[in-house]
Amino acid sequence: LKGETDMAQVRDQWTTRAGFILAAVGSAIGLGNIWRYPYVAYENGGGAFLIPYFFALLTAGIPILLLEYVLGHRSRGSSPISYRRLSQKWEWLGWWQALLAFVISTYYMIILAWALSYTWFSFGTQWGEDTESFFFGQYLGSNQAEGFWDIGGLQWSVVIPVVLLWAFVYFVMRRQAHRGIERMARIMMPILIGMMVVFTIRGITLEGATAGLNALLTPDFSALTDPNVWVAAYGQVFFSLSVGFATMITYASYLKKDEDLANSGLIAAFANSGFEFMAAIGIFGALGFLATQSGTEVEHVVGQTIGLAFVIFPRIISELPWLNSLFGVLFFGSLVFAGLTSVVSLVEPSVSAIRDKLGVARTTAVNWICGLAALVSLLYATNGGLIYLDVVDHYLNSYGLLIGAILMAVATAWTTRKIRDLQAHINQVSDIHIGNWWVLCVSVITPLVLIVMTGLNIVDEWK
Ligand code: PFF
Repeated sequence: LKGETDMAQVRDQWTTRAGFILAAVGSAIGLGNIWRYPYVAYENGGGAFLIPYFFALLTAGIPILLLEYVLGHRSRGSSPISYRRLSQKWEWLGWWQALLAFVISTYYMIILAWALSYTWFSFGTQWGEDTESFFFGQYLGSNQAEGFWDIGGLQWSVVIPVVLLWAFVYFVMRRQAHRGIERMARIMMPILIGMMVVFTIRGITLEGATAGLNALLTPDFSALTDPNVWVAAYGQVFFSLSVGFATMITYASYLKKDEDLANSGLIAAFANSGFEFMAAIGIFGALGFLATQSGTEVEHVVGQTIGLAFVIFPRIISELPWLNSLFGVLFFGSLVFAGLTSVVSLVEPSVSAIRDKLGVARTTAVNWICGLAALVSLLYATNGGLIYLDVVDHYLNSYGLLIGAILMAVATAWTTRKIRDLQAHINQVSDIHIGNWWVLCVSVITPLVLIVMTGLNIVDEWK
């Protein structure tokens, strides 16, 4: 037991700043970039979406990212400790955000499990002609649950990849952050970026790709008057940058004392957006190809998230003239790679929080957290899984995240009034000077927008 306590006292630390940036970019780049961004951009004004997107990125995404960095770096502790350092009253907010991240990891992993299966199915396009009934029927099991309380049986085709993926995450996370998470990011991120580049080049060189690109990029400026478009931009930026769930607080707490925070934040944010734009171009190129092949318009073949990846993409892959399996492996393999480096960041806040609170070794915390997460994941691998996934995702992103992020502003700027200290801390370690615009964004603009977003979501609920 003594050995265990000793180990618990050795705090994780990234080997270099580049290692931290890679891990942070690994967290940011995930399903949100590949299957969420393209659809959200297309639906919300196409090329014109870039305006609210950059507005949200600059006034909320990057400022809150920096806020998380400084909270973690200043306390060099997990999220509950970071908030407690502001005031004891706020420790619970750290637990709340870590809990949200944990819950997301349990269903995020399910989608990776589907993608892993589909990477395998890509060999010889095993989904056949009717990709929709293959996914919902053959793959997920044709006896879908009847309602919320009907769990139904386990979907073994999903259970197996889920268990495999959790086992992988478990072995990565058992090791100290620089040996596990950092090394994983160092290996997987370059491969992922390489795969995405090849995928995108193939996507835009397909016949009919321009039709897809036109659909994605043609600006519809009238969308800018619709508040929901702005809400969508904020939602996308938050999810994609991994802010609001204490993941970046935790990652930044493993930085050495004198590391440039502002610069790291900008690099991570722009790398994330760059990846998002590239993925969207490749995907819409491929959608243009499918539309041309089926003799219809792009709007008839665009699907969102689950439908896009598991119903439409298999169709595209089957239709390709050559090397279809490779294109399938590139697409689904990218989802798996991108998602795995995000899942570890969703689990790490609770591992870190429990270690700090109970003083246990990393391995003990990881045993419990990964074991529990894998068990909860199985709930979504039942016949009722799709319903649960929808419900949990909806409430978590529409309320849990927003309320947590509003409280972040309240905690730092309004009740404890530590925002100036935080600003000074960033400026002390960073080359780029963070001006008062940051304080204004974090303490006024972002919380106001988030309150409006929460209000619109509530109104939506009653429609
Ligand atoms: N940013 C990830 C994505 O785009 O898929 C998802 C994510 C990871 C969200 C970590 C939140 C988080 F804390």
